[in-house]
This record gives sequence, C-alpha cells and structure tokens, in this order.
Amino acid sequence: MATSFRTFLSFHHRTLFIPLTSAAFVASSNIPSSLAIHCTRKLYCYTPRNISLTSIRCCVQSAPRTIEPQYKVASHPNVVQILEERGLIESITSENLRSACSDPSSGPLRVYCGFDPTAESLHLGNLLGLIVLSWFQRCGHEPVALIGGATGRIGDPSGKSQERPDLDVNTLEKNVKGIVDTITQILSQNKNLNSNVIPSGGSFVILNNYDWWKEVKLLDFLKQVGRFARVGAMISKESVKKRLESEQGMSYTEFTYQLLQGYDFLYLFQNEGVSVQIGGSDQWGNITAGTELIRKILQVEGAYGLTFPLLLKSDGTKFGKSEDGAIWLSPSMLSPYKFYQYFFSVPDADVVRFLKILTFLNMEEINELASEMTRPGYTPNTTQQRLAEEVTRFVHGEDGLNEALKATEALRPGSETKLDWKTIEGIANDIPSCSLAYNQVVNLSLIDLSVSTGLLESKSAARRLLKQGGLYLNNNRVDNESKKIEAEDIVDGKVLLISAGKKNKVVVRIS
Ligand SMILES: *[C@@H]1O[C@H](CO)[C@@H](O)[C@H](O)[C@H]1NC(C)=O
Ligand SMILES: *[C@@H]1O[C@H](CO)[C@@H](O)[C@H](O)[C@H]1NC(C)=O
Ligand SMILES: *[C@@H]1O[C@H](CO)[C@@H](O)[C@H](O)[C@H]1NC(C)=O
Ligand SMILES: *[C@@H]1O[C@H](CO)[C@@H](O)[C@H](O)[C@H]1NC(C)=O
Ligand SMILES: *[C@@H]1O[C@H](CO)[C@@H](O)[C@H](O)[C@H]1NC(C)=O
Repeated sequence: MATSFRTFLSFHHRTLFIPLTSAAFVASSNIPSSLAIHCTRKLYCYTPRNISLTSIRCCVQSAPRTIEPQYKVASHPNVVQILEERGLIESITSENLRSACSDPSSGPLRVYCGFDPTAESLHLGNLLGLIVLSWFQRCGHEPVALIGGATGRIGDPSGKSQERPDLDVNTLEKNVKGIVDTITQILSQNKNLNSNVIPSGGSFVILNNYDWWKEVKLLDFLKQVGRFARVGAMISKESVKKRLESEQGMSYTEFTYQLLQGYDFLYLFQNEGVSVQIGGSDQWGNITAGTELIRKILQVEGAYGLTFPLLLKSDGTKFGKSEDGAIWLSPSMLSPYKFYQYFFSVPDADVVRFLKILTFLNMEEINELASEMTRPGYTPNTTQQRLAEEVTRFVHGEDGLNEALKATEALRPGSETKLDWKTIEGIANDIPSCSLAYNQVVNLSLIDLSVSTGLLESKSAARRLLKQGGLYLNNNRVDNESKKIEAEDIVDGKVLLISAGKKNKVVVRIS
C-alpha cells in the first residue's frame, strides 16, 4: 500500500497542536481508468461566512505491473541526482539528503512544497514546485502539496513594496478550490507521461495549513515555538533585510511569516512524516527556519530542504509573463491553446534548458533534440513544439493538449482541417469575436464584413490584403474581390472565421 503514514514516535515528545481529522471522500476527477484512486479528506463545510478548508489524501495505485528487465536498474533512481543533472537544484540543506532519498532501508520520503492561495489559479511560477514534486513521485516518494490557507490570510514579505491585500474568506475559498483542482489534476495523471524512470506508488497528499493554525493559541505558540526562534537570525535573512531598509519597512505580521512556515515544516515532520521541503531559491530562509526549528525543538536530524533556481530567460528576464499578463495553469484562466503558444514561442537560446527543467523527457532524447537543432535542414521551432507539447500535457493532460493542438491547427491560415463550430468556439475566447444577425451577414461582401467586424480599418486596406493573398474566410484564401458571404459559408449555421494574414483573426457569431 502506498499510503503509509509513518509515525515519528521516537522523537514525538509532545504533540503541539491538534491533529487532523478526515472523512471519506471519493474522487471524481478524470483519473485514468487504469488507476484506482481513493482519497480521504476533510470535507468543505459551507456556512455563509465560515468555511473550513480542505485536506485531501489521494492514493493512486496502478494495477501491479511487471517491470521490464532493462528498467530494473532504474527502478530506484536517486531523485537528487536527477534533479541536479537537469539544473533543478540551487541548494540543499545537507548532503545527507542524497543518501536518504535512495536508501532502501528508510523507505519512501514524504516531500512537501507550499502553495499560497493568492489567486484562483496557480501560475507558471508554481510550475517548478509541481515538477520537482512530480520527480520525487516518479522516483517512488510521496509528494505533499501544502496550501497556505493560513499564511494566505496574513500576507508575506515578498519584496513587493506593499503588504499583501487582505483576502476575504470567500475569495480565499475559491482560490483554494482552484489550486486544489490543478494540483490534483497534475499529480494524479503523471503516470501518463513519458518518463525514463519507473514511477511507483504515485500517491500524493494535499493539506491545508489552516487546519492546524486555526487551533493555535498565541500564548502556546510563543511558549512552545517562539522561544526557539532567534530574532537575530530572523532579521538577517536577505528578504527581511531588504524590506527593513525600504521606506515602508515591514509589519510584525509579515515578519512572522518565516516562523509560520517554519512551524508548518515542524508540524508536518512530526505529524505527517514529512522530512523534505522544496521551494524556489527565494524560499531558502523560510525553509531553513523550518529545519532549524525541528533541530531545536525536536532535537533530531533528518529534516531536509531543497531549493530550485528561479525560472529565468537567457536575457535575464523572468519567464512566465506574456503581454496579456501571467501564465496561469488553470484552463479557466488561460486556455490550453494560449498556454501551448507561450511555450511554442520560447527563443532558441532557452529551449534546450527548458526541456531539461520543465519536461520529463530523458536526457539522451533532449541531447538528441539539441543536436538536431544544429543540423542543416532543421525545421525551425520543432524543438519548441516538443517543449510546448510536453509542458501542456503535464499541466492540462492529454485532452488539454489535444484541444491546444486542434486550436493551433484551426487557426493556421490555409489549414486543411475542416472547421467545425466546436473548434471555433474553443478558440473564441482567445481571439476577438463579435455577434451579427444572419441577414446582416448573408449577401454582404467579404470586404465589407472584414471592415464592419473591425478586423481591417478600411475597404481599401481589405482589398489590398486580398490582392496580396492575405485574406481568409474559414481558413480558405479568398481572391475574388466581390465575394459575398453565402449561407453555406457559415460553419454549422453558427460562426465564421475571418483572418487577415497569419496573426489577426475575428470570429463572427451569427445571432
Ligand atoms: C465554523 O463552522 C464550524 C462547523 O460548522 C464551527 O464548529 C466553528 O465554530 C465555526 N467557526 C467560526 C470561526 O465561526
Ligand atoms: C518566505 O516566503 C515568502 C513568500 O513566498 C517570501 O516572500 C519571503 O521572501 C520568504 N522569506 C524568507 C526569509 O525566505
Ligand atoms: C519560429 O518561432 C518564432 C517565435 O515564435 C517566429 O518568430 C518564427 O517565425 C517561427 N519560425 C517558423 C519558421 O515558423
Ligand atoms: C441574399 O440575396 C439573395 C439573392 O439576391 C436573396 O434571394 C436572399 O433573400 C438574400 N438573403 C438575405 C438574408 O438577405
Ligand atoms: C466572385 O464572387 C461573386 C459573389 O459571391 C460571385 O457571383 C462570382 O461568381 C465570383 N467570381 C468568381 C470568379 O468566382
């Protein structure tokens, strides 16, 4: 059984706060049918102004399978070594983690990463955390995603000039739900992904730190935890120093953030058997706050921290923002099509490094793709296409990838695919659209329609483009200047797609 909640009775000299309770819960997510999934979780309790947040335990088990002989060697891969090879490690708190993660006698590790519910969806900045968790999972360990339901309430010293705005409880609940959905989708489907290692177990846990923080009393906290936290160490942390020097300074609440996160690790270590925390390099101070508290309060070794580098482009800018804003992981905030396009347009200088960091393709395959790129006759962007496919599949699943590929093909001028209403609707959120009545459209010339929809600014511009061969109706080039829209042009009686060149398009809905 993959879910083993190991207890740490030997150094569990005091249960600081009340542990979780769970209720049975049957998952209904789109888990591949070859996998049995059973979850227990703390159920959402809805009352008008009072919610209690979720903790989910999910255990995905595949039917027992025989391991091919050539994989036997790889069945106990060292996850730290793999992460290092791919450029996914910035620092680790102790070299002992290397042996701990492949020590057959100590069994699988539980490893956690925190996610703050600051928005309804995770974004590209959270992707590395999920990828590293997934690598641990693929190497036989058990990931724990910790939603910061409590820490999300108070903000953090994020280097931004302002304190985080207070989130009201409804917003927070919505955010937690959105994030839980994405994490569940990603961590439960990873077996579908191409990987050079044998994933074993595959179970994962989602917890919410509000579950324990809501019980914590200030006096108990000061007595049992605060006593062990040295203020000198706390103010010497880089992010705090920077903030103290700023004009606005820092509130006591935000200053406490590292202690809260430190205590989370202690709690999880003691009550959930979690011994590794991962995070971005900006989390180093928070992570070591946790390993320190564990060492001082529980007086044991065996808690580890691991950080991965921030995702930067080769020009030094942050990867993860498009001109339209953040790259969200939830399909309701950003369509799989747009997500796919973002990765498709990664510059050549970054694409190989991103394949190592963001995909699970094995290194030989990546090296092969890299040498392809230098060969004469290489078709530009084929490596980008592979990157976009792999990352989209990881985040949006096979269905999301298909949706993205279908939309990409449908939006390609001159494309042979027959358009249908569903495909056009699928992309309608990603491109401008308008609604017109049937008799405002039929018998109107294409030139007129391309102006009245705002696609082109004047009839003369439309004629010019048509003469250059750049005007398309439903992906078919039109060269007849007097072409009138006919009833048969309206796809499934509902929509038209007009394109001006490769980039500009408009969907016309017939109302
Ligand atoms: C929230 O609801 C639960 C269960 O309905 C109740 O036990 C608890 O006291 C409520 N908490 C607050 C802060 O109102
Ligand atoms: C702790 O985490 C917060 C939230 O991500 C971050 O802004 C801050 O810099 C971290 N602080 C330390 C000391 O690592
Ligand atoms: C490759 O992608 C870049 C960036 O998206 C684009 O500018 C270029 O036109 C593409 N090349 C081809 C041949 O598609
Ligand atoms: C379009 O023009 C044809 C022929 O002139 C006419 O029979 C038809 O009723 C017109 N349709 C609309 C919707 O105006
Ligand atoms: C051009 O379009 C008009 C109106 O749709 C049509 O009557 C005419 O036959 C077309 N000409 C050619 C060469 O297809």
